[in-house]
Amino acid sequence: MWKYFIRPLFFLFDPELVHNFLIKWTKLFGGTGLPDMRFTSPLIEKKVFGINFPNPVGLAAGFDKNAEIVTSIRRLGGFGFTEIGTVTPRPQSGNPKKRIFRLTKDDALINRLGFNNDGVDAVVNRLKNKNFKYYNTSLPIGANIGKNKSTPNSKAHEDYLECFKKLRSYVDYFAVNVSSPNTPELRNLQSTSFLKKILKTLILENNKGKKKPILVKVSPDLSNSQLSDIVSLLLQLNIDGIISSNTTIARENLKSDNLKNEIGGLSGKPLSKRSTEMVRLIKKQAGDKLPIIAVGGIMSPKDVVEKINAGASLVQIYTGWIYYGPTLVYDINRKLLKECLNN
Ligand SMILES: Cc1cc2nc3c(=O)[nH]c(=O)nc-3n(C[C@H](O)[C@H](O)[C@H](O)COP(=O)(O)O)c2cc1C
Repeated sequence: MWKYFIRPLFFLFDPELVHNFLIKWTKLFGGTGLPDMRFTSPLIEKKVFGINFPNPVGLAAGFDKNAEIVTSIRRLGGFGFTEIGTVTPRPQSGNPKKRIFRLTKDDALINRLGFNNDGVDAVVNRLKNKNFKYYNTSLPIGANIGKNKSTPNSKAHEDYLECFKKLRSYVDYFAVNVSSPNTPELRNLQSTSFLKKILKTLILENNKGKKKPILVKVSPDLSNSQLSDIVSLLLQLNIDGIISSNTTIARENLKSDNLKNEIGGLSGKPLSKRSTEMVRLIKKQAGDKLPIIAVGGIMSPKDVVEKINAGASLVQIYTGWIYYGPTLVYDINRKLLKECLNN
């Protein structure tokens, strides 16, 4: 149904237009009338960095940037958690449109949105008014936080701190995004000196009250030695986890010749190999001390098994959901359950 009917229809329109339509529709109807995709079993529930996840499959950052559909995403998508954001202190409109491209021959997207979001105050207001016990289940929510485009890197830690302080009471974990390719210089914040400054600032604040897990989201374009330096730093600072990975600026072996040179971050199938390789490297270096959320190119249940075997505790999906539709997460969880029962 998705592949042969709904997807071709949606793919007739601009990707951002379809996205905005789906967010509005979900906000209005909450997925009413559609099958309930929730999936859980004690066998696939997971406790990671102190949080109970009804299943290990999350919606990746960027889909629900402004926390508009957090209460319906579990029923509608079957997800075990969701990550809102990237949220910045002040609202910003992002880069000029058109800024999302479908590379259909590659099961991929390129986006150069540039942290378009309503700003942290609007997001907090929205979260305050949510009924998290919707459908009698609670869904863990992560907040992916970033800096405004106009904030220089030397002051970036202040932006992350502001988002952290304001969102703290309303979310379950934080993802420090220093890896989006669409905000100039942002990825330089992955250098040990900048990252240390940001993380120490957040840890200091975190120690003042009930602690929230802090994770760092990294870029697939890091060299292996840069990744290793980051992992060492995260272990040294006792950071709760790592999200691997964001989108890539690499353009290898793509079939969509007409679009592959669009500027922005590439996501989807072509990202899968590097993302899994990074999970393997992180696991080898950190063992069980640094839980990993694997994201990048998950298009099928088999891809999730691969990421988990490489060392991931949880996974997230964005592009695969666009290409393979709302039943993907249900199928993944069914496969995970089957694997558990067979072992
Ligand atoms: C349109 C779009 C917008 C995104 N926005 C964000 C974002 O705001 N913050 C972030 O950390 N990642 C963002 N991402 C990256 C995803 O969260 C994910 O890391 C990446 O797409 C790889 O996963 P996938 O191959 O399943 O899509 C975005 C991805 C896409 C396709």
